[in-house]
Amino acid sequence: MYRDVSICNTYNYGDALYWDARYVQDAGTFDWYQRYSSLRPFVRHFIPTSSRVLMVGCGNALMSEDMVKDGYEHIMNIDISSVAIDMMRRKYEYIPQLKYMQMDVRDMSFFPDESFGSVIDKGTLDSLMCGTDAPFSAAQMLGEVSRLLKLGGVYILITYGDPKVRMPHLSRPAYNWEILLYIIPRPGFEGSATRSSSIKSYLEPVPITKEGLLPADFVFEDPDSHFIYVCKKKDETTGLSNFPAYPLSADVL
Ligand SMILES: C[S@@+](CC[C@H](N)C(=O)[O-])C[C@H]1O[C@@H](n2cnc3c(N)ncnc32)[C@H](O)[C@@H]1O
Repeated sequence: MYRDVSICNTYNYGDALYWDARYVQDAGTFDWYQRYSSLRPFVRHFIPTSSRVLMVGCGNALMSEDMVKDGYEHIMNIDISSVAIDMMRRKYEYIPQLKYMQMDVRDMSFFPDESFGSVIDKGTLDSLMCGTDAPFSAAQMLGEVSRLLKLGGVYILITYGDPKVRMPHLSRPAYNWEILLYIIPRPGFEGSATRSSSIKSYLEPVPITKEGLLPADFVFEDPDSHFIYVCKKKDETTGLSNFPAYPLSADVL
């Protein structure tokens, strides 16, 4: 199984002590990879606002606050860093839709099976992939995510990891996930295509080969794109695809 060490060499992202130290120094807010405004079409398409959402490795991102402003009613945020959780819990004390708990994603036994309609992960599996025993940690985390999802629920993973390094972890039969992949450019990237035609193409899923790879002729508009894996827990009773048949659109209201 591939291990992607590309961004791991400089910082110890897999270590809780690293994150505590980082959040002590940086008491502001920071969203890794993408802000909610760019992810909104995907989130709104796959997650109803009434869904019980689990935000794994929330850090000090604004994502959950922005989701509440957009109508989401229940977001449980967890992070291994008690510094981040204490800070965020104080900050959002008066927003009842947001809850914060210090927890390791590899052991979320506090929550019963099938407690959540959706799980969002922006950069947390990526952090585990930088730690010691990365494949084992990833399997523990994803096993827990699968356990906590209701049938038909979705795990949305926003990552820098392409299918070659992420599909071997996501496609384990035990999870029984139907997976769609989207690829979006990093914020601020100015491609050659016109803005409107690019937006349309980002909203179309990219095919993944049987081997879990991008098609051989796939061309990246932005070589540092981000990958969005939408993993839906299959409901075997219907035998039908669980994904909505209507296409994703930038205007999701
Ligand atoms: C790359 S940051 C992403 C933060 C936030 N999701 C965002 O989008 O800005 C990864 C986060 O995962 C948390 N984390 C790392 N390992 C974890 C673990 N085993 N359990 C829970 N959280 C973890 C870190 O404390 C950090 O806040």
